[in-house]
Amino acid sequence: MSDAGPLVRAAHPGEVDEISRLIITTLFRSNAADYPQNVLQRIAEVNAPARILANMAIRDTLVAVAPDGTMIGTAGLEANWIKSFFVHPDWQGKGVGRALFAHSLGILRGRAVRTVRLQSSLTALGFYEAAGFRALREIVDGEDRKILMELDLV
Ligand SMILES: CC(C)(COP(=O)(O)OP(=O)(O)OC[C@H]1O[C@@H](n2cnc3c(N)ncnc32)[C@H](O)[C@@H]1OP(=O)(O)O)[C@@H](O)C(=O)NCCC(=O)NCCS
Repeated sequence: MSDAGPLVRAAHPGEVDEISRLIITTLFRSNAADYPQNVLQRIAEVNAPARILANMAIRDTLVAVAPDGTMIGTAGLEANWIKSFFVHPDWQGKGVGRALFAHSLGILRGRAVRTVRLQSSLTALGFYEAAGFRALREIVDGEDRKILMELDLV
């Protein structure tokens, strides 16, 4: 990847299959150590292509793209929330998450958002803490556990 990092841009509706595949691959490879299969399956279902397409009407869907055009990351912005933040496991640890995150914060700052919120997976907690988010509380839904976090944009 170039020193400038991946290209981050708005996703197109025709890319929903690729986005869904990216999310589901990442779920079952990266989040499997932290969540049971039934929880991963439920999250996979809410990230089916039709659901991603429906979400595009209410959120900004971003994708990170490698120089060869491969989709390697995605994120969604809905009001002051960051959602569906995933970097393909083969591309983790190379600054793709940081690039997606910086792009997302740039958009939110441009909309005068003051406090960004997200529900972190147990897997991504360290990533968001390193980015300056503070944990507010744990959200438990059966075997699904997430951490509500927020970051003030100043
Ligand atoms: C969490 C995730 C998005 C991070 O993306 P990434 O591309 O691997 O992150 P980057 O390479 O840009 O890392 C940026 C910084 O965060 C740190 N970091 C990344 N993941 C981390 C983790 N799990 N714990 C602690 N620090 C982490 C990196 O070391 C790096 O630090 P540096 O700036 O000092 O070099 C990615 O690992 C992922 O998709 N995980 C699985 C899916 C998931 O749980 N998504 C979140 C849903 S809420």
